[in-house]
Amino acid sequence: MPNSKQTKSQQAKKPSSLLDKKVLSRIAEHAVGWFSKHSRDLPWRKTKNAYRIWISECMLQQTQVATVIPYYERFLERFPDVSTLAAAELDEVYQLWAGLGYYRRARQLHSAAIRVVESGQEPFPTDRDAIAKLPGIGRYTANAIASFAYDQPFGIVEANTQRLYARLMLCKEPLSQTAMQAKLWEFAQALVEAWPVSPGQLNQSLMEIGSLVCKPKDPQCQACPLQSHCQAYQTGQTSTIPASKPKKLITDLREIGLLVRDSKGRWLMRRRSPTERWSGLWDFPRYDCTSIESESLAIEHALKEFDRIYGKSLWVRSECLSVKHSVTRYRILLRCFEARLEGAKTISTKGKLAQHEQFDWYKVEELESLALSSSARKVADWLTKQAAGEN
Ligand code: ADE
Repeated sequence: MPNSKQTKSQQAKKPSSLLDKKVLSRIAEHAVGWFSKHSRDLPWRKTKNAYRIWISECMLQQTQVATVIPYYERFLERFPDVSTLAAAELDEVYQLWAGLGYYRRARQLHSAAIRVVESGQEPFPTDRDAIAKLPGIGRYTANAIASFAYDQPFGIVEANTQRLYARLMLCKEPLSQTAMQAKLWEFAQALVEAWPVSPGQLNQSLMEIGSLVCKPKDPQCQACPLQSHCQAYQTGQTSTIPASKPKKLITDLREIGLLVRDSKGRWLMRRRSPTERWSGLWDFPRYDCTSIESESLAIEHALKEFDRIYGKSLWVRSECLSVKHSVTRYRILLRCFEARLEGAKTISTKGKLAQHEQFDWYKVEELESLALSSSARKVADWLTKQAAGEN
C-alpha cells in the first residue's frame, strides 16, 4: 500500500532499478562519452582484427598493460595471423612469451590456433560460441573478442568491470559467490543490450573506467562519469565494496634445486613433463622435500632422486641461492645447491633415461632464450649475473 503521506508523484515513481533499460542506456552513454575523451591509446584498440584482439586478451590475463605492449608487438610481427601461429613450433611461441609467465596460456594459444586452422575457421571464428570452444578461452575472453572485434552484444565481467558493477549495484557479498557472479553477468549483458550502438566500445569503456577511475583503493569518484548511478558512492561504501576476498589457505612447499655444472661450464636443464606443474617448460633439476625436516636428509633425498633418474652421483659444493615463489595457493621455497658430477665429466643426452626425461646442457648465455619456469628464470638470472661478475 502506498504511504498516505507521499505525494502523488512520489507514489507513481518506481524505485530506480539499475536493470531499467533507460537507466542502463544512460550509464552506457556516460561511459562511452567519457571513454572518447579519456581512453588510453593501446595498440589492440586500433584494430577490429579478432586474431589480434585474442592475442592481446590472452596476454592481458594476469599481466599489466604496460608489460604486455612490447610482447604484443613482437608476437604479432612474428605471427601476424592464425596460420603462421599454427605452423610454428611451440618452442618458438614460448620464446616470444618468455617473461610473461603463465606459459599455459602460450600453450593453449598455440593449440587453439591449430584448431582454428584445422577446422577451416580462418582467419578467426566469428561465432561467439565457436570462439568459446577454443582452448584457453573462457566466457570473458569469448565475449570480449565477439564484442570488440565484431560488435556483437555480449557483456563482459573481469576484474575491473566486476568491481565497477559491484559498486554501481551495491553488491555487498564476496564477488566469488556464484549468486554474485550471476548478478554481475546479468548486469553486464543488460548493459550491452541497452546500447546496441556499439557493444564493443561500451565494453572497452566500462573496463577503462574500472581500471583508471573505479580503482580498488582510492577510487576517483569525483572524476567518475557514473557517479550519479553509483549506489556505493551515494551511500559512502566504496571502500568496503567489493568485499575483500576470503583469504586463501596457503600451503608451504620446500624444494631442493641442483645446479649441476659440467666440465665445459654448462648447466644441466630438464624439461618438465606433461604431468607436472609448468609442463613443457625448462627447469633445473629440483626435488620436493617438504616432508623432510632435516636439511642434510633433504639434500640426501634430492641426490638420491637425481641418481635414480640420471644414473649419476653428484657432489654438492654449497648452497648458493634461495628463491621464493608463490603460485596459486602454494608458497615454494627453492634452495639451490651447486653440484658437480662425480667422476663422469657429463651425462650424455643421447642415452635413454628410465623416466624418459628430456634434458640438455646449456651455457649460461643460452638460458636467456629458453622457456623457463618463473622460479627457474630467477635462478638463471642470478647465474647470468654471477657469470658477468666472473668475467
Ligand atoms: N585487460 C584485459 N583486457 C584489456 C583491454 N582490452 N584493454 C585494457 N586492459 C585490459
